[in-house]
Amino acid sequence: MPAPPTILVFDSGLGGLTVLREIVGARPDAHYVYVADDAFFPYGHHSEDQIIARVVPLIGELITAHAPDLVVIACNTASTLVMSHLRAKYQLPFVGTVPAIKPACASSKTKRVSVLGTKGTVKREYTKALIRDFAQGCEVTLVGSADLAALAEAALSGNDVGDREIFAELAPCFVGNGAGDPARTDTVVLACTHYPLLMDRFVRLAPWPVDWIDPAPAIARRVSDLLRPASGEADHAGAEMIFTSRRPHTLSQALMPFFGGRIPA
Ligand code: DGL
Repeated sequence: MPAPPTILVFDSGLGGLTVLREIVGARPDAHYVYVADDAFFPYGHHSEDQIIARVVPLIGELITAHAPDLVVIACNTASTLVMSHLRAKYQLPFVGTVPAIKPACASSKTKRVSVLGTKGTVKREYTKALIRDFAQGCEVTLVGSADLAALAEAALSGNDVGDREIFAELAPCFVGNGAGDPARTDTVVLACTHYPLLMDRFVRLAPWPVDWIDPAPAIARRVSDLLRPASGEADHAGAEMIFTSRRPHTLSQALMPFFGGRIPA
């Protein structure tokens, strides 16, 4: 039987776990290496040049160390900058994570969509081009959050995060005069992989119901399509968790659900 494929999933921190969770569901046969570049977190606070200079060589080192069959950049803040550099430099398939503006605008009924991402992601030329090409007549509001990714990490690590802090970052997504306004925002793009970690809180705090667009299931389908078909028996291969800071962590139990029940070494 062929060896299971190795998939390397990369993010600035724990947000990429929301993408990993979907990929593991689609490909339980694969071996997973999850890398959190926590030594450089949060990416949203760094300049474009700093992120390119950090991520491109780091991915090269990770490819040498782990020989993955495919790399997923599970970070919008990085993917909106580095994908072409990575593809030009390294000969293996890469899958990125970019704001899901096209499907969001296609499904919005009120034609008012918000994109919630890091301050870096909403400033990117890449994101503006997606809006130019795919807004399909929608009014798109860009909401750059300074702190939500860190709040999501804190919540996942078991710390108390107040509703007020979360709502302050979320509120600008909601444009309009309440649930009865036919021109209100009805769709919010989750343009940072950390944000689905706070999904329950977002739903509870939202001033009116909206559709939340998380691209992770589509990314998982893309990854699965790029790999050779899974062998008949889904043998759960191993999983590794790497923090670039090399800090010891005690999160293994909390992280298990993201790894499909495996305990990451
Ligand atoms: N998870 C990352 C993203 O999707 C960003 C968090 C950060 O600022 O590092 O954009």
